[in-house]
Amino acid sequence: GKADPEVVAICARHQASDGPLLPILHDVQAHHGYVSDEAIQQIAEELNLSRAEVFGVVTFYHDFHREPQPTHSLKVCRAEACQSVGGRDVWAAASTAAESGQGDVQLEAVYCLGNCACAPSVQMDGRTIGRMTAERVSTLFSAGNS
Ligand code: FES
Repeated sequence: GKADPEVVAICARHQASDGPLLPILHDVQAHHGYVSDEAIQQIAEELNLSRAEVFGVVTFYHDFHREPQPTHSLKVCRAEACQSVGGRDVWAAASTAAESGQGDVQLEAVYCLGNCACAPSVQMDGRTIGRMTAERVSTLFSAGNS
């Protein structure tokens, strides 16, 4: 198939080393954000491995993604202090937005963000936001679109 020059270059960089497969996969993911079927095929060719061997390694290690990852990360606190003051509604609204495919946002439940005094709390791209509401959390998904 058509070779991705970046994958070829990454393979060339590691080919001489002992056990080049993992460093190659890490570099490919760092470059593309994930390890595509095409990349697996190409790495297999470069290293004289079967596609199944490369695929096996990619799926064995949980840090390799097989698909493009969302750009934004939204963590919603589901621990007690937040749940008791409206966190359930925040989580429900966020789940609805995520399931309907709104925004380029990865939603994740977390258990206490250390911001209980301003519960309910969420964290958007590493920034903690308190006193969240169901309405406001939905707007974070539209912001993630831009
Ligand atoms: Fe939600 Fe602590 S319980 S921030």
